[in-house]
Amino acid sequence: MLRLQAPLPDRYTLATPEALADMIATAKAALGSGLLVLGHHYQRPEVIRWADMRGDSFKLARFAADDDRATDIVFCGVHFMAESADVLTAPHQRVILPDLNAGCSMADMADLDQVEECWEDLAAVTDVDRIVPITYMNSSAALKAFVGRHGGAVCTSSNARAVLEWAFAQGDDVKVLFFPDQHLGRNTGMAMGYTEADMRVWNPHLERGGLTAADVEDATFLLWRGWCSVHQRFSPEHVHDFRERHPGGEVIVHPECRHEVVALADRVGSTERILEWATEAPPGSVLGVGTEIHMVQRMATEMPDKTIVSLDPLVCPCSTMFRIDEPHLAWCLESIVAGDPVNQISVDAETAQWARVALERMLEIT
Ligand code: 13P
Ligand code: SF4
Repeated sequence: MLRLQAPLPDRYTLATPEALADMIATAKAALGSGLLVLGHHYQRPEVIRWADMRGDSFKLARFAADDDRATDIVFCGVHFMAESADVLTAPHQRVILPDLNAGCSMADMADLDQVEECWEDLAAVTDVDRIVPITYMNSSAALKAFVGRHGGAVCTSSNARAVLEWAFAQGDDVKVLFFPDQHLGRNTGMAMGYTEADMRVWNPHLERGGLTAADVEDATFLLWRGWCSVHQRFSPEHVHDFRERHPGGEVIVHPECRHEVVALADRVGSTERILEWATEAPPGSVLGVGTEIHMVQRMATEMPDKTIVSLDPLVCPCSTMFRIDEPHLAWCLESIVAGDPVNQISVDAETAQWARVALERMLEIT
């Protein structure tokens, strides 16, 4: 999908940090409780400080679903999160993404045409009534709607296990088609006691996913060949190096990391869980964290009594999360105050209806 953000007026690009802070504070004060600013943990410090609520993608979806006071929700995160917020909010609420180019390279690895083609290919070799499609939150609303229409659900990194258990509780011979992140699917399946032998990777760029009919029949998990470019970088060597430098230190990683990394970690969890574990760790703890660098650096700054470092010594930012900056935030907030909001994220009614089914299933399960 092509999403283009028009250049900002000079008023914002040429403003000093002090002037931008002033614009944002003034607009927030003018909008009062009619405004809710949500911030994902990966946001840069200059942006996250303006968030009324911070969280992982699950927590932010809940905030959006539960708040009916705010008429404008400014989502400091990425496109799929803003779409989900639009689907979960009431018709009188607008969701705004400060920069339309804030996408997610993993979410873009599966589109509706590819998933529909996959479903048809599967139907040609097996009974798709036995397949429960599960999409990671990091996917377009169109894919969430596909899942809603076909009896599946959305999951996030904080509830993937509960959602998979729900899927498998639907019958003895259930298979799961999990997209777009193969790693979250594999790591969660392995934590549930499944093995590689139960899993096949579906490559959307190959004929029938690169699988034989027997592969499809044997698999319990069909894992879409998608990944996160940020978490993909963490390697077993990073874990070994950290342990050598910090014997007794603890390794905490996000489940989007490869299984070889997850297998070596002490704890694996969503961004919210990582933050909770770091917060609960006693003073003096040494933590090596495998997730986006802004979050790791913020934890290190906010908890100076602990040593919190990135497992990857080379900086590892999410370039799309990084697109949200103070100029874009000031621009969109002032546009709301002026009564002519920019960058509203609006999912069409038909897609929203089915995406809501899939998202609400997730919220009911967890
Ligand atoms: P969380 O749900 O853990 O916040 O993850 C979102 C994400 O995009 C991680 O890369
Ligand atoms: Fe997408 Fe990875 Fe960025 Fe998360 S960290 S938003 S999965 S590209």
